[in-house]
Amino acid sequence: MADTQKQIVTVGVTGASGAILAQKALVLLEEDARVARVHLVVTEAGQRLFAEELGLSAGDLKQLPSRILGHPAAKIEILPNKDVGASIASGSYVVDSMIVIPCSMGTLGAIANGISDDLVARAADVMLKEGRKLVLCVRDTPFNRVHLENMLRAQQAGAVIMPVVPAFYHHPKTIDDLVTQYVCRVLAQFDLPQEKMYRWAGTPASKKAEA
Ligand SMILES: Cc1cc2nc3c(=O)[nH]c(=O)nc-3n(C[C@H](O)[C@H](O)[C@H](O)COP(=O)(O)O)c2cc1C
Repeated sequence: MADTQKQIVTVGVTGASGAILAQKALVLLEEDARVARVHLVVTEAGQRLFAEELGLSAGDLKQLPSRILGHPAAKIEILPNKDVGASIASGSYVVDSMIVIPCSMGTLGAIANGISDDLVARAADVMLKEGRKLVLCVRDTPFNRVHLENMLRAQQAGAVIMPVVPAFYHHPKTIDDLVTQYVCRVLAQFDLPQEKMYRWAGTPASKKAEA
């Protein structure tokens, strides 16, 4: 972790459905006092998904973080996905944790097989080789055998596979409730537990049995 004890986080966004999940993660990271800096990398397909699902066109890439947040970004720095020579492409540059949210089957395949031909895949490869936390928020349905085998390969190499699967035990009323709970669970994976996260504390019946 950085000297300040604040985290440096990389967020990769790829062309799987769920741009709203990336947006929520970036909003929470930007607001989080425990986070010093966020390196954001968005694949070409990821930019397309921001446009398709949230109406956020890429335009000048440098402006994308503020368009995602709806206000100027203080901590989020966007890096071009083609720049495989960026800081986060080297293990000598310390990043505490990385999320790929959402993670397409294409990028999952690249990461699981060490094909580091763009910055998202290379930065993820570096996280694995350096033994740092990497969370892959994979999304597709149904999964074919290649997807499942790639998930297993990535998990065996050290990644956390966190499929975009919503929970319902907190009685969500809105899409934002579903999205927030999922993203909070993702952030909790790398020691950024959120106050907004619902924590299951047992049913009244099981509590009685415990007494
Ligand atoms: C609207 C839209 C939705 C998509 N949803 C998914 C998805 O949920 N999961 C997936 O693996 N690919 C999905 N794709 C396909 C990927 O975007 C495509 O395979 C792309 O090459 C992935 O590239 P990337 O990993 O570099 O972002 C979608 C594409 C579009 C245009």
